[in-house]
Amino acid sequence: MRQAGRYLPEYRALREKLDFLTLCKTPELALEASLQPLRRFPLDAAILFSDILLPLETLGCRMTFNPGPKLAEPVRTRAQVDALVPRPAAEAVPFVAEAVRLLRRELDGRTPVIGFSGAPFTLAAYLVQGEGTEGFGAVKRMLYREPATLERLLDTLSAAMADYLRLQIASGAQAVQIFDSWAGLLGATEYDRFALRWVRSLVARVRDLGVPIIYFVNAGPHLLDAAATSGADVLGVCWRTPLDVAAARIGSQVALQGNLDPHALLAEPDDVARHAGDVLARMAGRAGHIMNLGHGILPDTPIASVEALVRAVHATAVRDAEPAPGLCTT
Ligand code: CP3
Repeated sequence: MRQAGRYLPEYRALREKLDFLTLCKTPELALEASLQPLRRFPLDAAILFSDILLPLETLGCRMTFNPGPKLAEPVRTRAQVDALVPRPAAEAVPFVAEAVRLLRRELDGRTPVIGFSGAPFTLAAYLVQGEGTEGFGAVKRMLYREPATLERLLDTLSAAMADYLRLQIASGAQAVQIFDSWAGLLGATEYDRFALRWVRSLVARVRDLGVPIIYFVNAGPHLLDAAATSGADVLGVCWRTPLDVAAARIGSQVALQGNLDPHALLAEPDDVARHAGDVLARMAGRAGHIMNLGHGILPDTPIASVEALVRAVHATAVRDAEPAPGLCTT
């Protein structure tokens, strides 16, 4: 949940000289941006520096970031959807594979590397709208007026993201996270048909590679029970639902990730530690919790807050941890 590493002065310094897409597409620079937070904080995992929209280039889509994404051409018609023919990720976005390889080589044996993609519905929301916007009206319009066209698009995206995640895993990613940032726009019935079904197919297509799969759903308290059945190993829960409430609803079929409100990092460091302690306490005694924010970190987050968060989490987690069988602690 480090999206918009803009809270780090060293990231802002990098961005003063270079634009975002150049960072993403130059493996050595993506490596540098991936490592920046690890140099400051003793984090337990590293996430690849990229963006969920980059692999849309495998479908021939072009985009810019300023800072939000804008597609050169929104995809609105059946003919446009039919014209999206995925190229192999290894050919279309080789820089991602190389960035993962460099990151894994740098961190091997110390910090695991997480790769990621967008979920099909969330990517469709951007593709059809052409940019980020409140409500993503264009994709909902397609959903109700031309559901078969949207399903065709979701099918294409699910296959393309499977290829993309497989490339990241083959290049060294030790876990992958699927971001469904806009699934919460859907009611439960539409979520099943237009979001969950395609996440299931994506998960099924990378399952054989054997790495843990995390599925994050934003703004989805009404979707939690369904989202837990995606086939992923971990459900990332947004900040809106207390984790003990989520766990009581879902049971132990998946581990949970989350879910401190990113705004809690705007509090004084002592209060940050208290808020983090509250999240941890809600999962105390349960197996399967990955502590994280409940959505992306805000650009105006003070460094001291992140330090307080990491310190508080490690102090509690070390105190409570039972050695897990087979867990390598060296
Ligand atoms: O955090 C990291 O460094 C890991 C890489 C990462 C980025 N984006 C880098 C980024 C990850 C995992 C993402 C995911 C992402 N991107 C999501 C899913 C997570 C979520 O927030 O729900 C989404 C929806 C996007 C699309 C996107 N990319 C948006 C909406 C924006 C604008 C952000 C804003 O706050 O204005 C981006 C740009 C982006 N992606 C930045 C970064 C570091 C900022 C670019 C800059 O430096 O100006």
